[in-house]
Amino acid sequence: MTEFTTPPYDEWDDAQPYAMWARARRECPVVETPGNDWAPQPTFATTTFADADRVLRDAETFSASINGEVMAPFMGELMLGLDGEEHRRYRSLVAQAFKRSSIERWKPELVDAVLARLLDEIAPLGRADLVETITSKFPVQVICGIVGVPLEDHERFNAWAEQINFGPLNPDEGLAASAAMVEYLEPLVAARRAEPTGDLLSELVHAEIDGERLTDARLYGFLRLLLPAGAETTYRVFGSALLALAGDTALRDRVANDRSLVAALIEETLRWETSVTMVSRRATADTEINGVAVPAGCPVTVYNGAANRDDERWPDAESFDIDREHVSHLAFGTGPHQCLGMHLARVELEAGVNAVLDRLPDLRLDPDEPAPVIAGFAFRGPQTLPVAWTATSGV
Ligand code: HEM
Repeated sequence: MTEFTTPPYDEWDDAQPYAMWARARRECPVVETPGNDWAPQPTFATTTFADADRVLRDAETFSASINGEVMAPFMGELMLGLDGEEHRRYRSLVAQAFKRSSIERWKPELVDAVLARLLDEIAPLGRADLVETITSKFPVQVICGIVGVPLEDHERFNAWAEQINFGPLNPDEGLAASAAMVEYLEPLVAARRAEPTGDLLSELVHAEIDGERLTDARLYGFLRLLLPAGAETTYRVFGSALLALAGDTALRDRVANDRSLVAALIEETLRWETSVTMVSRRATADTEINGVAVPAGCPVTVYNGAANRDDERWPDAESFDIDREHVSHLAFGTGPHQCLGMHLARVELEAGVNAVLDRLPDLRLDPDEPAPVIAGFAFRGPQTLPVAWTATSGV
């Protein structure tokens, strides 16, 4: 077996796993890690596109229940952790609100408005860290707006979401945040039940399929998942797309002058540097992946980040090339759990890149600051993005 290890948790934020994944794809595409005292069963990890695609589509053999095991105490009933018919019913109750046609209506009144407000603050400055000032704030504010959380409560809502997400590491704080978020949302939910206002909450509390509605446990489980699933992920890809532009002024000029290229820029960023590089499953029966025996009950990690750089699918897959022929990638996963928010993410990312190109002309890396890098093992993106531009005043 090739040397292929998961770095210790405290090294995840700065990790650079792509070279290791490339070697694994060539030498040992399904990696078995023996069990230990804490987790007695061996874990299997896939690194090719074909294996990732097969595992994620074969939901009978590879259950998503593992996703609920760790997070359920903090997030409640998680769609991400359900299988089969139960998952299908839950998902279909919330899916309507996330269709591309439903999402479009948020673009002018919310997505563009949030971007304009954030960019107004920095456009006259001429230089800023775009992670601190734009990317880390934008998707959080959009999701709070979609849910109907008033602007002044965004930071509080985001803090709870983070504490819930880190619940497994700090259970007391995670449980307290989980309860506080429900307490905060209860009056909003009651108001929308009495009088729908056309926002996401109104849609969720009144959604009905085959006479079935979302239970409170599932409604709050869904609302608790939205920020970790939708904000943490989108803001990191936004940062990577802007880094690709600011770091290559010829590419920046090309895209700035031909906005039909923005969609290709976003898709290539999602392939080349997805923010979510791995997803988890558990084998429900004795099976095999790519000739490697996987006993029932064993965890299977799908490195969709590694799959997205498989040379079998993309020529010269390690390089960033917005002109490559588009074939579908796995940034949003595939199969029954494929990202519910992918249309929203694409709308946000395209609007975000367009707004930055409009408002921060001649965007370039700030030569007086350390060069930013995209880093991370499970979640990737630039931690800082110091840039300069030709300062403009007013809107
Ligand atoms: C670039 C941004 C995003 C990336 C890279 C991303 C990635 C993913 C991936 C890989 C999965 C599949 C997980 C699995 O199979 O176990 C997923 C599922 C999910 N995502 Fe996203 N996501 C993004 C944005 C969003 C947004 C904006 C939202 C909502 C506001 C969202 C909500 C969800 C939900 C609810 C699921 C679970 C779906 C299910 O279990 O059926 N995501 N996402």
